[in-house]
Amino acid sequence: NQAVQPHQQASSLWSSRLAFILAAAGSAVGLGNIWKFPYITGENGGGAFVIVYLICIAVIGVPVLIAETMIGRRGGQSPVGTMRSLTDSEGVSRGWRAIGWNGVIASFLVLSFYSVIGGWSLVYIGKAAAGAFVGADADAIGAQFGGLLGNPWELLAWHGVFMAIVIFIVAKGIRSGLERAVNLLMPLLFVLLIAMVIYAMNTDSFGRAVSFMFSPDFSKLTTQGVLTALGHAAFTLSIGIGVIMAYGSYLPKRVNIAGTAMTIAVIDTSVALLAGLAIFPLVFSNGLEPGAGPGLIFVTLPLAFGKMGGGIVFGAIFFTLLLVAAVTSAISMLEPVVEWLEEHKGVSRVKGALFGGLAIWFIGLGTVLSFNVWSDVHPLGFIGYFEGKTVFDLLDFLVSNLMMPLGGLAIALFAGWAMKREGLSDDIGLRGGIYTTFMVVLRYLTPAGIVVVFLYNFF
Ligand code: PFF
Ligand code: NA
Repeated sequence: NQAVQPHQQASSLWSSRLAFILAAAGSAVGLGNIWKFPYITGENGGGAFVIVYLICIAVIGVPVLIAETMIGRRGGQSPVGTMRSLTDSEGVSRGWRAIGWNGVIASFLVLSFYSVIGGWSLVYIGKAAAGAFVGADADAIGAQFGGLLGNPWELLAWHGVFMAIVIFIVAKGIRSGLERAVNLLMPLLFVLLIAMVIYAMNTDSFGRAVSFMFSPDFSKLTTQGVLTALGHAAFTLSIGIGVIMAYGSYLPKRVNIAGTAMTIAVIDTSVALLAGLAIFPLVFSNGLEPGAGPGLIFVTLPLAFGKMGGGIVFGAIFFTLLLVAAVTSAISMLEPVVEWLEEHKGVSRVKGALFGGLAIWFIGLGTVLSFNVWSDVHPLGFIGYFEGKTVFDLLDFLVSNLMMPLGGLAIALFAGWAMKREGLSDDIGLRGGIYTTFMVVLRYLTPAGIVVVFLYNFF
């Protein structure tokens, strides 16, 4: 149990506020924005859902993002080390240390399946560029997706390629790895996204997409929709599982956390909305269904690309956008694991990235097999609630529905109730009435909101 030194040397920290914003926004902006947000908006009727989602971002997302960054910077170590030293210095129960372990374990698990889906985007860049969707009908495009999912070797290989990219970036360290990657990839992401939106604006259904997304019809909003919005607010901002804590541990003291967190939330939300504005016009102008579910971007959208002028180029652009978004999120998931290996197992960063990444790749086999060989294996099927759930479904459930919300709840409670108040306002970068309001939200509204989603998941 040797004392671990927090990162103090300036050279091991993010080089600027912008570098942190790009990295954290890179973590936030991912498959959640481009794949999940559009299809859950589609399934839940559009506008009214978007409004509830925005409220959830404000009440749960931003407060936890601020608290988690602040905790990370104070501790200055991996989530495990940070929670160990903060529970000591604050003189509070060691039980809070579970937040740190939850972070390292959850980020390990989430990457094991996120990377498999990241591999799909690699495959689809190739398919789009090769013109595989041109003139294909719904059955043919469905069969292409089915063919990919049905081939474990192919899935495993692309999952491996995706992990290799992630390992390479993380092994190079904060400044020459992560920072350089996001400096290149985030501007690229914005350019690709804007190109997609411009393309969508030139279809005849842009206006219809705008009204679908922004004119609220509350009769279409179900309780389930409200809870989906709440859960997605946590997922989309990457909060609750130590990723933001790990990134915060490299944050220089002078950076204002509240302002930075707001900026990150605004970027993440804008990308989700823009992704919707890029995708729905293509869906509508080709007479397709907005509520197609998870297949929206791998089946519905390729169908649109296959029918439209410029579909080869814009199809390739779209899946490159998806890849870039997935890579900048995936590197953030490997970071807590590597930081922990470095700190507590004394391995070098390169070895940590390699061992951690290989272990994650191997565990990803469970997800790969869930789509084919194990598609009928339902490990917890004997419990009614988990009936029909594959290994992948269970992992996603464990991380997205349990570890993320519980981690977020624990972070809100730890920062709001367990930590001493001295210096908190300065640390967060909020003063006076705004700070007081923030604390009320963090202590009451945020936990109450999370408890509601959480209970819903079980009852
Ligand atoms: N925020 C990412 C997205 O919206 O795709 C997903 C994510 C990243 C979840 C990092 C969790 C995490 F730790
Ligand atoms: Na996101």
